[in-house]
Amino acid sequence: MNILICDGMHESGLALLRSTEGLKVDMPDQLNADEIKARLPDYDAIIVRSRTQVTADLLENAPRLKVIGRAGTGVDNIDVQSASARGILVMNTPGANAVAAAEHTLALMLSLARHIPQATQSMREGLWEKKAFMGTELYEQTLGIIGLGKIGSIVADRALGMKMNVLGYDPYIIPEAIAILGVESVSLEELLARSDFISLHTPSTSETRKILNRENLAATRPGVRIINCARGDLVDEEALYEFLVSGHVAGAALDVFAKEPPAGSPLLQLRNVIFTPHLGASSFQAQANVSRAIASQIADYLLYGIIRNAVNFPSLRPKDFERIKPYLTLAERLGSLQGQLCTPVQRIEITYSGSDFQDVPLQPLTQTVIKGLLDPILAEKVNLVNAPILLKERQIELFSTATTEARGYTGEITVRARGTRGESSVAGTVFQGEEIRLVRLNNYRLEAELEGVNLLVQNHDKPGTIGFIGTTLGNFQVNIANMHLSRTPERDRAIAIIRLDEEAPAEALDELRRHPNIISVQQVRL
Ligand code: NAD
Ligand code: MLT
Repeated sequence: MNILICDGMHESGLALLRSTEGLKVDMPDQLNADEIKARLPDYDAIIVRSRTQVTADLLENAPRLKVIGRAGTGVDNIDVQSASARGILVMNTPGANAVAAAEHTLALMLSLARHIPQATQSMREGLWEKKAFMGTELYEQTLGIIGLGKIGSIVADRALGMKMNVLGYDPYIIPEAIAILGVESVSLEELLARSDFISLHTPSTSETRKILNRENLAATRPGVRIINCARGDLVDEEALYEFLVSGHVAGAALDVFAKEPPAGSPLLQLRNVIFTPHLGASSFQAQANVSRAIASQIADYLLYGIIRNAVNFPSLRPKDFERIKPYLTLAERLGSLQGQLCTPVQRIEITYSGSDFQDVPLQPLTQTVIKGLLDPILAEKVNLVNAPILLKERQIELFSTATTEARGYTGEITVRARGTRGESSVAGTVFQGEEIRLVRLNNYRLEAELEGVNLLVQNHDKPGTIGFIGTTLGNFQVNIANMHLSRTPERDRAIAIIRLDEEAPAEALDELRRHPNIISVQQVRL
């Protein structure tokens, strides 16, 4: 597997990748977009930091690409939607640089409060201006944190250590969880109205972009100070400039900008603003952490299929992966069987029954069923990442439920499908962690292997039918590997699931269908 590292990488992760058998790593000097595009067809994975823009255009030329690794938190330099549509996994390293970003936020807040950069500059100019740089303490001042995730919560912890009062606004965290941090959970309005310092720690989303706009800045306390170490577009920079000039906002500390670098920004001219060039994650420890994290995630995915920290696929802890692993193949084969039995499918319903599914994430299994379902139908490459998108595009409804109630096995997956030509239901289990079995097909109970080419022959349960099937296949030189038989409880109908060594020709299937006892014949490849 070939990996292209585009924006450099700390030695710790690089060494891990280079010493892993089965991986070949290239880290050329800063490639531009055209150069990356020209090289991408040869790679299974790329690793970027924030410099490389992974656009839809770049991904057009990446037939082998399976995964994009972002050594950092924000994935705003990656077109995740395009990657998902192409079935490419996008992974980041959440939390690996959180301490660095939180400490940088604290450094900015203290520098802003005590004018350290301006005083440094003044001294460089030979001055000794004691009066010009009167500062403010943080002790007992109120810090309002917008976004209490990994970084926001560390900032809160450190600020509480400095005896600040900390308010938090995060509509996605319940107030009780915010209270555990020692933070007072408030609305955005209250945070704006009460804070002496406001620090932003959300991702850039349609909700958070320009969360500090003209209206919200007007609702802040006069003399407020603002710190942004998250993403530049969380602040309306034009409005901030006006509030800084008027003095309503006493100062701002900015690590991030709407356009980076912010060449020509009028903010650069203001004495009450301090800056760093997106240095939040620039500590030796953070760079080593993100490098190691992305390297092991990429290696685990390419070599073993283990998915961690994917932004376009649910993550699985290794111990959960081990638990669901045997069921992944079953899920794909049941989906595939339904994709062939019940096409075109309009609605799909998946039920996970038994204790094996207790307390494990089931979304990866559901996506695997969908992949299996769509694979035989679509010409384009279907994988776990783009399967849900393709399902939606085809307007197929999806429902999934889990029950700890066992249906005779410790783990059983049932996939019911409704299509324009009727309904069908299939269920399977895994014996001894590896033997995949189809245990139900509509009303029939079975224990059939779910593998290879199979003929599903439904017939009236009359003597001689199985013999006829065997003779007919033999006449067409088709060898039977094994066969499973089952009858309805009423004993009027039977099904034979016949595993073949190779596909039976259409003429053989037609001849079988012509027999008066045979109701239906279908060949499926699993
Ligand atoms: P996180 O996902 O752990 O936390 C983000 C928090 O924002 C979550 O708790 C979420 O609930 C909250 N949130 C989402 N929408 C919100 C809204 N509308 N209002 C209020 N809260 C909302 O992310 P993190 O790792 O803490 O990173 C936070 C930010 O810092 C991201 O933008 C990340 O890209 C950025 N970052 C910057 C640097 C840097 O170098 N300056 C380094 C690392 C991360
Ligand atoms: C991040 O999102 O991780 C930070 O902005 C730092 C970086 O760009 O690497």
